[in-house]
Amino acid sequence: MKKFKIAFFDTKPYDRLTFEPAVENTPFEILFLEARLTRHSVKMAEECHAVCIFVNDELSAPILEKLAQFGIRLVLLRCAGFNNVDLEAAKRLGITALRVPAYSPRAVAEYTLGMLLCLDRKIHRAFCRVRENNFSINGFLGFDLYGKTIGIVGTGKIGITFAKLLQGFGMRLLAYDPYPAKDAAELGLEYVSCDELYHACDILSFHCPLSAENVHMVNKDSIGKMKRGVIILNTSRGKLIDTAALVEGLKAKKIGGAGLDVYEEETDYFFEDRSDSAIDDDVLARLLTFPNVLVTSHQAFFTREAVDAIAATTIGNASAFFDGKPLVNKVC
Ligand code: NAI
Repeated sequence: MKKFKIAFFDTKPYDRLTFEPAVENTPFEILFLEARLTRHSVKMAEECHAVCIFVNDELSAPILEKLAQFGIRLVLLRCAGFNNVDLEAAKRLGITALRVPAYSPRAVAEYTLGMLLCLDRKIHRAFCRVRENNFSINGFLGFDLYGKTIGIVGTGKIGITFAKLLQGFGMRLLAYDPYPAKDAAELGLEYVSCDELYHACDILSFHCPLSAENVHMVNKDSIGKMKRGVIILNTSRGKLIDTAALVEGLKAKKIGGAGLDVYEEETDYFFEDRSDSAIDDDVLARLLTFPNVLVTSHQAFFTREAVDAIAATTIGNASAFFDGKPLVNKVC
């Protein structure tokens, strides 16, 4: 007997594949919606007991107010980041937000390593060239990772997992995090200031959550402090990087390459098939012209293990809330 209906916004066919089995034999019924949660679509949740959102859904104050009017007191985030939720407004309205703090840090860390190897050795370009029967390797000169210095910004679950994966490469590992990890020393991680990190590293990889303080932490000024030819990897959140400044850095050859699984204005593009229309975001369009830029559509999390864990934790969060049990994954 289904007692609680949850409106799932911004769903794709693969969400059904993981969440339908996850709610079997539970009191939950899922209303799968393709629409992202916006001011216009919020009314679709009117008869539901909770909403479930993903990275590009919007939980601003006006939307939370609407949910509160519908009597909804629970928001489930089927992701780790919660930068898209107005926490103050949620608290004021008595709305609880629960997230999935960790599902597979390995999924994102392994993907970041894949992006680095691909960019360095130009594998993305080689794939296309060979398919055109062009077997030339001109322009594909890479560098050994051995002996290079890599900087990890944010050494939480994903950053530390990434550092563990790098153990076999013989690199110097530097890190910046206001709260250093306990197991950092045994991984050979050396903490330095953010500026020192920018000065010293051949590669910079971003794994910190987006907050009001670190919006555009990669900007004209910080790029100016980086080594010429630096490779920048961002599998965290797009707004950590001022993309216009990144484009200028790429044009000036100050930046040697960028691996981006996230983009600051990704909402209208990522996860969607837009192949029938021209890109009207000029910054994204310019970014896609660089041979040394690899953009992917926020897919670092997307492994079987991770999506199964997301479904299990999300439904576990809903059960805990409606059963009045302790809420271990509370955002607010
Ligand atoms: P976590 O909470 O375990 O670790 C984050 C670390 O960043 C903490 O140690 C914190 O002290 C540090 N930090 C916070 N602000 C910082 C700053 N300004 N500079 C340097 N360090 C800072 O988070 P976790 O699980 O490692 O995830 C990190 C981020 O990865 C998430 O917030 C999310 O935005 C992103 N992510 C991306 C995915 C994708 O598919 N591309 C999937 C999952 C997460």
